Amino acid sequence: MKKIRKICCIGAGYVGGPTMAVIADKCPHLEINVVDINKNRIKAWNDNDLSKLPIFEPGLEEIIKKRRNQNLFFSTQVEDQIKNADMIFISVNTPTKTHGIGAGFASDLRWIESCARQIAKYAEGHTIIVEKSTLPVRTAEKIKSILDLSLKGNKPKNANLQFSVLSNPEFLAEGTAIDDLINPDRILIGGDDMEAIKLLEDIYSNWIDKNKILKTNIWSSELSKLIANAFLAQRISSINSVSALCEKTGANVIEVSRAIGMDSRIGNKFLNAGPGFGGSCFKKDILNLIYICEFYGLKEVAKYWKSVLDINYWQQNRISSLIIDKLFGTISGKKISIFGFAFKSNTNDTRESPAINICKNFLNEGCELLIYDPKVNEKEIASELGKNEKNVDPNIGNWHKFYTIEDSVKNADAIVILTEWEEFKNIKWDLISELMRKPAWVFDTRNICKKEEITKSDINFWQVGISDKES
Ligand code: UDX
Ligand code: ADP
Repeated sequence: MKKIRKICCIGAGYVGGPTMAVIADKCPHLEINVVDINKNRIKAWNDNDLSKLPIFEPGLEEIIKKRRNQNLFFSTQVEDQIKNADMIFISVNTPTKTHGIGAGFASDLRWIESCARQIAKYAEGHTIIVEKSTLPVRTAEKIKSILDLSLKGNKPKNANLQFSVLSNPEFLAEGTAIDDLINPDRILIGGDDMEAIKLLEDIYSNWIDKNKILKTNIWSSELSKLIANAFLAQRISSINSVSALCEKTGANVIEVSRAIGMDSRIGNKFLNAGPGFGGSCFKKDILNLIYICEFYGLKEVAKYWKSVLDINYWQQNRISSLIIDKLFGTISGKKISIFGFAFKSNTNDTRESPAINICKNFLNEGCELLIYDPKVNEKEIASELGKNEKNVDPNIGNWHKFYTIEDSVKNADAIVILTEWEEFKNIKWDLISELMRKPAWVFDTRNICKKEEITKSDINFWQVGISDKES
């Protein structure tokens, strides 16, 4: 049976980077080459200053320090590493299509296709291709047909060329990626080549119990990933819809979450009300699901999943309007501090962050945003909100990035907490209050602050899912 010695991972992003770092750490006998066409990204992965790694993930720096240039290598040598590899992981981006058929719903598979073509051109011998990127169902089939076509035009030097395609979706969540990779709930491997499945299973068996490794057909594996994300997102939309009802009725969403979460059939995770879900996966995967359902004529099913996205958007707009309303119905010329721009804590990722839509809503009302986030840099914010130059149109607001909490609240009328960063839980509110303009407000969309500490500091307080009467 074939032996795996060299692995190549195409795509050094939020999935490829941490996943390969953990495999390198757990399998010192394997050589792992992570390749990417983005030179700057690779440069950052190779930077001696580990704080400059392209992604922030707790625990990642330590592993990179230990394994980089030992058995873990980052480079732009895509062709060479494809040639050398016994197994190739595909971890490239698959954003929602912006043009053409399926625009706004279907995944853009151009990067996957270009990977498959590169593999077809440069691979040698029996090569196992592992899909790691989240993909629409039946993508493995497309990869396989591109590879099979290349076999037909096989050159003599590649007489042993042979491909097996497996689906092995990654379930890590950003912010806890390293721990999720070390202690996953399950590993899913879809495919029909038993030898290839066994070889991939053997890699994971170096640190994961065999009982946690599930084997399915390739389409079940691809679909399971979409459905897992859709179910998680659905829970958040459910609790967010309930948060609005709690605010009206006097119920407390934290108490409701705790009460329902103790039912073992429901479970207590993913029941935190908030400003809506963000991240690169949930929206994209649900859009994909909607597209697939419509393609197969399942209109009602498509409509059902679309409502999960609708509630998410509605929650962001509901919170924006409610804040404007509390600030006397106008925020033009006012200063609003934004605490947290990342889509969740412990990541520098801003993709689909609820902060984007909420900040845009505020800017459209002409206010000045004072943004503080411990990990998101100014360039990232600019790519979402546009450059922070003084706007020509006086009705459109402006934003600034600050590097300390204190600097970001000077003369602010309100603070809106959008990301649940640990440091926001321990703020000395009496000191903050002195820096703000009165009447001052704190809007806690993550339910992480202690009400008494804020209200006793002469600041008005609003929490998601808790009625004004109670808070
Ligand atoms: C998600 C899936 O969890 C992961 O399995 C998959 O591989 C990729 O997509 P990720 O997007 O990184 O991971 O983070 P996750 O922890 O799922 O959070 C997604 C969003 O939901 C965040 O904006 C988060 O703040 C929000 N969320 C999560 C809530 O609003 N409430 C909750 O109770 C949980
Ligand atoms: P994810 O969150 O899924 O990891 P990212 O966007 O963070 O997505 O990372 C995907 C990476 O894949 C990017 O760094 C991108 O440059 C890289 N990439 C896309 N297509 C190719 C390709 N054909 N060859 C090499 N790298 C690629």
